[in-house]
Parts: sequence; C-alpha cells; structure tokens
Amino acid sequence: MTNSETKATLSFSDGSPALEMPIYKGSIGPDVIDIRKLYGATGMFTYDPGFMSTAACNSSITYIDGDKGELLYRGYPIEQLAVNGGDFLETCYLLLNGELPNADQKKEFVATVTNHTMVHEQMQFFFRGFRRDAHPMSVLVGTVGALASFYHDSLDINDPHHREVSAIRLIAKMPTLVAMAYKYSIGQPFVYPRNDLSYSANFMHMMFSTPCEPYKTNEVLVRALDRILILHADHEQNASTSTVRLAGSSGANPFACIAAGIACLWGPAHGGANEAALSMLEEIGSVDNIPHFIAQVKDKNSGVKLMGFGHRVYKNYDPRAKLMRETCYEVLQELGLQDDPLFKLAMALEKIALEDEYFVSRKLYPNVDFYSGIVQRALGIPTALFTGIFALARTVGWIAQWKEMISDPEQKIGRPRQLFVGAAKRDVPPIDKR
Ligand code: ACO
Repeated sequence: MTNSETKATLSFSDGSPALEMPIYKGSIGPDVIDIRKLYGATGMFTYDPGFMSTAACNSSITYIDGDKGELLYRGYPIEQLAVNGGDFLETCYLLLNGELPNADQKKEFVATVTNHTMVHEQMQFFFRGFRRDAHPMSVLVGTVGALASFYHDSLDINDPHHREVSAIRLIAKMPTLVAMAYKYSIGQPFVYPRNDLSYSANFMHMMFSTPCEPYKTNEVLVRALDRILILHADHEQNASTSTVRLAGSSGANPFACIAAGIACLWGPAHGGANEAALSMLEEIGSVDNIPHFIAQVKDKNSGVKLMGFGHRVYKNYDPRAKLMRETCYEVLQELGLQDDPLFKLAMALEKIALEDEYFVSRKLYPNVDFYSGIVQRALGIPTALFTGIFALARTVGWIAQWKEMISDPEQKIGRPRQLFVGAAKRDVPPIDKR
C-alpha cells in the first residue's frame, strides 16, 4: 500500500477542529482513509454496521470488482483459473504462496498434502459422540476444532513452520472429515484416503466407495467437483473469512479459527445458500409457479427471498455463477440428465428474474450458489452436505488469509467499538421496589 498525495479532511459543523487523515492506495480497487487516529483526536468512533465501507486489513490474496463482476486470485481471473489453471491443488498453492507452482513445486505440494490426508484414528470416537442425524456442519465445527487436541506439534502460531504444517494438515484432512461426516450419517464404515488418486477423486472415493464395492471415478464428475472447489476457494474478506481473521487476531490456534469460520459459513445468508437455493427450487416445483413465487419475493412482508440471488459485493453477474452453470450443464449431460426439471426450472427462474424490474433496479444477479446445489445433487452429494463441501473448498482461503494476517506487522487484536444506546448509569433499586 502506498500513501496518496490526497488527504481526507473531516470537518464538523459545530466548529470543532477539522481532522486530516492519510489516504492509502492499493494496487487496484478503492483507496482507503486511515481513520486510526480518529478516536484519539476527536473522541468519536465511525459507525458502519455490516462493514459496508470498512477495509479491515490490507491483503494481496483475492480481489473482487463487484461492479464489473470480476474475481481475481493473486491477480489471475477466476475464469482462466477454472478453465486453464490446473486442478484445485494448483489453486491452493497459488493462494498460499502467491504464484502458480512449476512442475517440481506442484509435485512436492501434492505429495505433502497427500501424505497428510489421514486423521488420527482416535477421531473416530469423536464422531461416535454425535447423533447420526446431526447436521454435518455441526459435526465439522466440532471435529475441525478437535484437531487442535491431536496436533500439538503445529500450534505455535509464532513459528512459520508450525503455521505451514497446520495449513497443510487442514487442507489435507478436510476432505477426510467431510466424507467421514457423510459416512457416519448413513451408518456406513469410514473409508480411508487413497494416495494414488487426485484430491477431488480421493474425496469422491471416500464418499462413495464401501468395503464391498470400489467407486469408479468419472473424469467429468471429478472435474466438476474440482471446479466447485476452485470457485469457492477464497472470496476476499467475506463473513466467514473475517470470522477466521477475528478469531485468529487473539492468537487462537488455526484449527480453532477454521472451526469458527465453519460456524459462520453455516448461515443461510452465506454458505448455507446453496442448500437453501435447492430447497427453494424444489418448493417452487414447476415453471408455472414462478410468477407466484416472484410475487412473494417482492412482497417485503412475506420474508421470502430468491436464494442464490444477490450479493453484498457483486452488483453484476457473479463470474462464478456463469462457470457453475456451464459445469451444471456438463454434469447433467454426462449423467444423461439433460432434461433435469430442476435445472430447467433454475434457468427459467434466472431468466425471469433478470428481466424483472425489482431485481434489475437492485442489481440482483445469480451468485455461485444458484447452480452449485444442482451440480452437487447430480454428483450424489446429499443436500445437508452442500455447505460442508463449501467449507472444504474455503479452508485454503481461510488458512491463506489467516497466515497473511499473522505475518502482517500491522496486525492487532480485532476489537470493534459501539454506539451505546442502552440505559445510562443508574442505581440498583431495593428488592421490594422492583
Ligand atoms: N431476494 C429478494 N430480494 C433481495 C435479495 C434476494 N435474494 N437479496 C437482496 N434483496 C433486496 C433486499 O431486500 C433489499 O431491498 P430494498 O432495497 O428494497 O430493501 C436490496 O435487495 C438490497 O439487499 P441487501 O439485503 O441490503 O443486500 P446485502 O448486501 O445486505 O445482502 C445477501 C446480500 C445477504 C447475499 C442477500 O442478497 C441475500 O440474502 N441473498 C440470498 C441468500 C444468498 O444467496 N446468499 C449467498 C451469498 S453468496 C455466498 O455466500 C457464497
């Protein structure tokens, strides 16, 4: 970040002295006003619920231009990474290290991740403590947090080697834990990882094979899963990533921080949207019901939202949604499901919404989750696990952002303040006067 020659001046209508504040420039995107001296100089805070105008950190990992509908990982457009960028582990390497790997770096990285995919055998007993019908996200919050109780040798956040090992462990073990959560829910034995398979193929093997029958991986389906992972790998300072950073700012260990991110991702306004979008399509049922549904969405009292539509940052088409729609088409073709009624319904709903004044005037476009539920369902992933797949993909983004934060000399514990609107100081009345 560089200092801008322009300064910002904050003046007050009551004649209090004005405050000059520095402005910093990033490499692209909006400049920021440095307000750190504001409270000391004026005794005032800024008020920004939902952080609509707040840059909480400087970062060089992911850039979004919401007006253009552009998403860059370390400068590379998501469209290029998804089509020509290699597999998910190349994206992981890029997010963690800043550059795409050469052949030797890739080989070494794949070998390192592959050799960390097993979880401590005792993790199985944690699983047994959960009800079989527990939501997989609750299982993941618990088991990912519990990793900290097994891997004491990588918990020193001030040691770069420990940070590196924790990052690899999290990326490597998440597929194993997500697949274990699934197997537990259906009462099947846990399946161990296979080192001869790619990251995504191994995940499908752990999900779908049983001791009685191996799972035959299908290249189109593995590529589709890989694309889901690439598209969800990072997304700047979103709610769950900010949660990870905030948890990490206190010095908490990485496993605990990622568990906090998973908890935040669970919400329907964030990662839970893919599950909600699919349920919504199922509820609408047929193209004939779309007008009635759209009327409900427009009625503010109904509480109904078009799930998979709208985004805090994108005020244009989410670039990931286009790629996901393409993948959806490919997967359904491969499985002979091209006439899938939900896909047809989703496309009809998208078309109608994109032409409707309500959505146009609010710049509401499909986000990545509008189509990802249909793809996941076609891959055989149960609806309740959709957000778990998102967490698996986002782990690399969370851990890359966490590592960046830990090594940032400007990093401080995250501690927002408030505008207090409750009772001022008063005396506790005697018990018989209450
Ligand atoms: N359906 C109907 N109306 C919507 C929708 C929607 N999906 N999203 C926003 N709006 C409306 C709001 O009601 C509001 O209308 P108003 O100006 O008349 O009051 C206007 O559009 C602006 O919306 P906000 O809620 O202020 O936008 P915000 O940035 O706070 O919310 C959010 C973004 C949470 C993603 C919202 O669009 C939403 O709930 N979408 C559905 C859930 C979803 O798909 N989430 C996934 C996000 S992507 C991800 O996490 C991977």
